[in-house]
Formats: sequence, C-alpha cells, structure tokens
Amino acid sequence: MKRLLTAFAAGAALLLASAAGHTETLTATGSLHADQPGPQISRYIYGQFSEHLGRGIYDGVWVGENSKIPNVRGIRTDVVTALKAIHVPVIRWPGGCFADEYHWRDGIGPRDQRPVRKNNWWAGSDETNAFGTHEFMDFVGQVGADPYISINVGSSNPTEMREWVEYMTSSGDDTLAQERRKNGQDKPWKTPIIGFGNEAWGCGGEMTPEFYSNELRRYSGFYHRSADNPTIRVASGANSDDTHWTDVVMKNAAKQIDALSLHYYTLPTGKWDKKGPSNGFDAQAWADTFAGTLKMDKLITDHSAVMDSYDPQKRVGLFVDEWGTWYDVEPGTNPGHLYQLNTLRDGVLAAVNFNIFHHHADRVKLTAIAQTINVLQAMILTEGDQIALTPTYYAYQMYVPFQDATELPLDLTAPTFTQGDKTLPAFNVSAARGKDGKVYIGFAGMDPKDAVSLTIDLGGLKVSKVSGQVMTADKMDAMNAIGQPATVKPVDFKGAKIAGGKLTVTLPAKSVVVLALQ
Ligand code: AHR
Repeated sequence: MKRLLTAFAAGAALLLASAAGHTETLTATGSLHADQPGPQISRYIYGQFSEHLGRGIYDGVWVGENSKIPNVRGIRTDVVTALKAIHVPVIRWPGGCFADEYHWRDGIGPRDQRPVRKNNWWAGSDETNAFGTHEFMDFVGQVGADPYISINVGSSNPTEMREWVEYMTSSGDDTLAQERRKNGQDKPWKTPIIGFGNEAWGCGGEMTPEFYSNELRRYSGFYHRSADNPTIRVASGANSDDTHWTDVVMKNAAKQIDALSLHYYTLPTGKWDKKGPSNGFDAQAWADTFAGTLKMDKLITDHSAVMDSYDPQKRVGLFVDEWGTWYDVEPGTNPGHLYQLNTLRDGVLAAVNFNIFHHHADRVKLTAIAQTINVLQAMILTEGDQIALTPTYYAYQMYVPFQDATELPLDLTAPTFTQGDKTLPAFNVSAARGKDGKVYIGFAGMDPKDAVSLTIDLGGLKVSKVSGQVMTADKMDAMNAIGQPATVKPVDFKGAKIAGGKLTVTLPAKSVVVLALQ
C-alpha cells in the first residue's frame, strides 16, 4: 500500500499568523519507514523529449560545424555540458507528431544533399534534415544518454522501420551496414528503446485502439531484437484519461510490447484555446496549474489498474513519455513553435511530478518531459550564443540522487491551502535510499504563501547529519534571464535538523527542497 499521502486537511494546525504579511506557518507530522524499501526508481524517470519543432533541435541542439557558437561536430557545447550535469539518462526523438511523417533516409548522407521538407505539424517550417540519425546518435553520445527512437507508424510501413533499424544496428557486411560506414559510422549503434508510433489516436494516424493494436503487432513482428540489442518496445499509449485505449492495447498486444506510453500536459486553464501565460500570472493561476498537474497521480493509478488486470507481474512498463506545462506561446513568437518562458512555478511543478512518479516506481519506468530546449517546459532556453538554465532544469539537478535509488515509504499528510475554488496540499514529498547509501527526501512546496513546519519520525534510522538544497524566490513567476547568471536556482538549505530520532524541517512557501540524511 502506498504510504505517502500528499493529501488534504487532517492534522494541519495553525501555528502562527503574521499580521504584516498575512502569512502562517502550517504544521505536519509523519514517519519514515526506511526498513521497508520499495521498488527502484528507474533513472529513466528523468528522461527528456526533443522533437523537430520550432527551435528545439535547430538552434537548441544543432548549430552546424561552421557556427561561431562553440560546438562539437555541429552540436552546441553549452547545451551538452548543461545536460550532462543533470545526468540525462535518455532522450526521445524525433517526435512527437513529427515522428509519424519522418523518413529516416532524408536525414543521412552528405548534408548539402539532404532534402528540405515541410514540417507539417509545426508551422510548416522548413526541415533541412541537417540533424538526422548520425547527428542524433552523436548528440546522445555526447550527453551520455540512451537514444529512444520513435518510429513512423502513422504514414510508413514495417519495411522502412526494419531498414532503419538494420542501418543503425547491423554489424555485418550487408548493404545497409556498409552504407552507414560510408556515412561515417563504423560501429553499429544500439537501439535500447523503440517507440512504435506517437499518439496513434491523434496526429499519429487518427487510429482506433483496435486498428492500432493490429498495426502494433505487425510492426513489433518485424522488429528484430537480438541478444546484442535487447530493445524495449514501446506502444503508443493513451491521451490522458483514456483508459479504454490502454485496455484495448493491453488486451490485444501486451505480449508484443515491453512498455505502453501515456501523454498528459498541464494547462493552467485546462482549455486548449486559451491555456494561460507562462509568466505574469496570479495566485489563482498558480493554484489551477497545480490542481491540473496533481491529476497525474490519478491518471497513473487508473492506467496502472487496467494494466494490472492483464499484466499483474508488471512486466510492461508505463512510460509517461510526454508531460509538462503547456502555456500560450510567448507573445511575438511563432504560435506553431511552442516557445514559452519558464518560472519558479515550472520548477516546483517538475518536482511535484517527480514525487508522483516515485510513488509509482513499480509501474512507471520512464518519463520524458516535453521538451528539452526552447519548446514547452524546457530545461534550457537559447538566444544566439546565450542560454538560460530554467527553474525546471534546476529541479532536475536537485533530484539527480533519486536516479536508480530505492523508494522508501514516508507517511506524511500535508496540510492544505485554499485559493478560490481550489483546495490543494501544501506540498508533496517522496523519499528514497540513494545509490550512495544516503537517504534523500524531496519536497515540492505548492503553497505560494505559507511555510510548513514538519516533524518526521525517522523510525530508528541511524542518521545524525542532514544537509540539503532549496530553490525558491520572492515571486511565483521568478525566472532566469537568458545570458545572465541564474537567480532561481538551488542554494544550501539550513532549515532542517535531526534530534532525538526526529527530522524537523521548515519548508518555505513555493519551494523545492531536497535533503540528504546520513
Ligand atoms: O510536445 C508537442 C506535441 O504534443 C507532440 O508532438 C505531440 O506528441 C503532443 O501532442
């Protein structure tokens, strides 16, 4: 049973009211059960998604070998350095909707001979194909991540898939392997993760789940795994709460896959025609956004329950391979390029989702935030040779110790805060034992106004020292300016103590805190 509830009301007490700022300090008490370890938190939960969309790949990753922007074989050095620092484990590519119109042959061979295509999904922009298979594999190699390739199912056929995979992975003397060598890559690559289509219910072909399941079986049948290249096969999964999709795909094709995806985006208003701005928002928009993102927990619970009925052993992973905030585009930018700014709200929201994913680590084995650079909830924003590392980036940095850690149950009921029609938990939290043996606790403080005073019984855990980091700011929409030193970023946290077998923490309003206990 899941021990941790980020939930409502019970046990909340008012300690102090400051007349001046109308702030209060809320309280919560709970206990850690370090002697009852749960599942491993896969490092793949900290994955990224990079699509050919707007300035995500071009400008964001690829500047070309002749650019004045420092690069290695055309790939930005500043971006690679930043992504390495957050230990990005996997990058999903080339889409997204783009994937189901992508033809891999467009992106190989001499760059000046590659065809220019229209990117039909994303503003009809020119796709030069300068960034193709070799460039992507070089990019993930430089970052130290694994490639997760989305195959075109919607507008292609299994032959094209089989040939692409052979081109990438064959070690023989066959024609495709020779072509790869001629194009500069002697050693075969590995394809550890392959997605069969993207949003097959929508931009990936407007399929019914029954039709898609048959397609999936056919593609999976022609995908040749080997001991050398043991690929995880991912089915295109449901749109947010569509459990019927999950049910049909699991019923018809569970044997042919190793994972099923799920896409869910957080929109402040919940409305696609007017989503709300990325910055300059009020306390109501803050609360609405967190109410929206907390639905992730129920979505995973509901899809997992359906999967359990076909796969009680949990062999098939749930991959949340598109998630994050989706706001109105930044005024003055191309509406089809999905460029938005990134504030403290996004950083806290990322941590809320990490905590949710940790609680479902038995089923959720990979997630990919949308998207890495210059698109939606980005880690990095670029302008020419300048970059900003966003609050979302820093949330990923703070949670690095959770990669491949072992989840630990933590009973802790959060007090609530109310904003207009929304009553929400003041924080959510998760705990784990890291690979270095330390116990880590990550808090996402959602209350925009009030701090929470926490006491956690450590249940006999032998620790005497606590250190940590906090990310917060005065304003809800504080952000890091491009080309300037970051101001919204983690700093040392002094608000935690261990005494008498108990951990006490003062969690600031609107913050991310990660503690290390040893
Ligand atoms: O991330 C942007 C788009 O959102 C992706 O291309 C698509 O899969 C989803 O609808």
